[in-house]
Amino acid sequence: MSMILGIETSCDETAASVVEGGRLVRSNVIASQHDLHERYQGVVPEIASRAHLQRIAPVIQEALDEAGVTFTDLDAVAVGNRPGLIGSLMVGLSAAKAIAWSTGKPLIGVDHVRAHLYAASLISAPRGERNTAEAERPAPPTYPALGLVVSGGHSNLYALASPLELEPLGRTIDDAVGEAYDKAAVILQLGYPGGPRLDKLAQQGDSTAVKLPRSLLGEDSLDFSFSGLKTALLYAVRGHPQGRGPDAVFQRSADDLTDQQRADLAASFQAAAIDTIMLKLHRAVDAMARKGSAPKSLIIGGGVSANSLLRSRAVAFGEERNLAVHIPAMAYCLDNAAMVAGLAHHQLKAGQIDDLTLPAIATTGR
Ligand code: KG4
Ligand code: ZN
Repeated sequence: MSMILGIETSCDETAASVVEGGRLVRSNVIASQHDLHERYQGVVPEIASRAHLQRIAPVIQEALDEAGVTFTDLDAVAVGNRPGLIGSLMVGLSAAKAIAWSTGKPLIGVDHVRAHLYAASLISAPRGERNTAEAERPAPPTYPALGLVVSGGHSNLYALASPLELEPLGRTIDDAVGEAYDKAAVILQLGYPGGPRLDKLAQQGDSTAVKLPRSLLGEDSLDFSFSGLKTALLYAVRGHPQGRGPDAVFQRSADDLTDQQRADLAASFQAAAIDTIMLKLHRAVDAMARKGSAPKSLIIGGGVSANSLLRSRAVAFGEERNLAVHIPAMAYCLDNAAMVAGLAHHQLKAGQIDDLTLPAIATTGR
């Protein structure tokens, strides 16, 4: 059974985790920086890097202590090295390299987006608690699988042949869905980070109250577009503007909304965003089937996989399309290091080991 330390600092969470055998999470430490970025309503890269620097060493130590292991017990050190904010990535990567160099343990660079698709395979198994017996553990996904990553930076569809082999099917051509949620929350004056707040408010609203667009792009397109939905929400809240850009003058302000109107707008936005995702999932299953590799499972990951409507619609989708649906436990939806350590187990088994020249890469394309 491999014991792997994972480190994740790609955006605004400083995280470290120890995972055994690729699935059993012995510790999952996450130091969130939301308080530092709230007043800017978005992540400020320089503030993020500095906070990672302050927190990385104690976060790693806590992850080891909670798991009851020391560096000697580890089989490898894994780190999310792509994609992400370059200054943030550098902090986790430097820490991982220092540990690998000083202990002689293998270093494994992990793709953050792929790691999100692995999060649904993780099982919480803290030290001291009874370990989940083999028979009680939820089955890992079967392949081929359709993968959906929905986060603040990504809305991507993949065809997966295994946890390590994936082919891109579609991506967003403008905003990622989490980004659209965050911007919608700003429009509705819900604060930061907006996704979870909008999700909560939507549950008190009428999703049919306001008609908002579902952008499907071309007939067969598996790409996403969410910027039109965001603009439609802005106009629904503030009326059509006179003028453009910073000079635009709106008819109303979000201050004029009643609580019920605000909830109805949130529910209408949520319904449009999740409808769009579900329609694309149907298309993607059909596209994979046409290519002769009909998916046996649907794997979802990324921050928006915490969304209440997406979670319930995905379960219904699995029943309708006869697919096993794998959605991460809430603890592994947002950025975390357990998903990095978990996926690294498969990379280690496949001999995918890096050396100390491993770079931090801001973007990995699709
Ligand atoms: O995966 P993640 O932590 O970071 C990235 O890799 O981007 O995802 C963060 C995103 C944010 O945009 C946040 O608003 C969104 O996930 N999010 C949600 C919910 N919880 C988090 N969006 C909709 N509904 C939620 N419940
Ligand atoms: Zn992420």
